[in-house]
Amino acid sequence: MITGASSGIGATFARKLANDYDLLLVARRKDKLDQIAAELRAAYNTNIEVCVADLSNPAEVAELAERISGETDLGLLVNNAGFGTKGRFWEATLASQEQMHQLHIMATVCLTHAALANMVPRNQGAIINVASVAGFVRGPGSVSYCATKSWMNIFSEGLYVELAGMGSRVTVQTLCPGFTYSEFHDVLAVDRERVAGKSLWMTADFVVDASLKGLRTGQLYVIPGWRYRLLTSLISKLPSSLRLAVEAARSRDRVMQKEQ
Ligand SMILES: NC(=O)c1ccc[n+]([C@@H]2O[C@H](COP(=O)([O-])OP(=O)(O)OC[C@H]3O[C@@H](n4cnc5c(N)ncnc54)[C@H](OP(=O)(O)O)[C@@H]3O)[C@@H](O)[C@H]2O)c1
Repeated sequence: MITGASSGIGATFARKLANDYDLLLVARRKDKLDQIAAELRAAYNTNIEVCVADLSNPAEVAELAERISGETDLGLLVNNAGFGTKGRFWEATLASQEQMHQLHIMATVCLTHAALANMVPRNQGAIINVASVAGFVRGPGSVSYCATKSWMNIFSEGLYVELAGMGSRVTVQTLCPGFTYSEFHDVLAVDRERVAGKSLWMTADFVVDASLKGLRTGQLYVIPGWRYRLLTSLISKLPSSLRLAVEAARSRDRVMQKEQ
């Protein structure tokens, strides 16, 4: 099952997995899901099912969780659906912040719980949580985004420890992409070059290939691209007082840029 399969990284997972798995594709836009499902059915001899659900709605998440609990051969859950917001925490609407926490955190909790209760007794299967490089920083203007993606990393680490401790063959991966071409920044209506220049952007193909390579070796953290691996490893080594001072200065610079 792949959440957020109607575009970007999720749709790319679907295209790369369709040869090996029957797929359940989840998102809100039925037309997009149907289009991808038709394309994959025509290309592969695979059963592709579409499920329209708003995963920021707990009742719809619960229905999906029940669905995957009953799957006899559940092989993989990709918790990928996500979105960003703009503006300082208190300037963005509370509804958008709540929706993000529901989607990134509660949907991941609920679906992962159902998937692992299914996979662990069979001693097979894998979870990929699509977090972000943003989970390593406290980005001004993306407080809830960074916090929820950071939570995804810690949550995945906890599961990894539990599963490894019991010698389970079920694996967990936290995929941490940096800037990736998808609809994500179109939804935010931001200028890609202004956000991150040219050299930091990756294709969804590159990101998903790195994830699937990591899946084969049971790698917990997959951070596609050497620049992002270097960045996250440097950030992780900074004392938190220094890291926070740098991030606060960045925040001040951004405000001054906007005011100029
Ligand atoms: N692009 C980047 O630079 C980047 C970097 C790091 C991490 N990520 C993460 O990668 C993941 C995929 O994003 P993307 O880059 O592929 O962006 P995208 O093209 O905008 O895809 C986001 C997907 O999430 C789905 N979605 C959003 N809200 C949903 C909801 N309430 N219920 C169900 N589905 C929902 C969207 O489908 P519908 O609109 O049809 O529901 C869409 O399929 C996200 O978790 C994002 O945080 C992206």
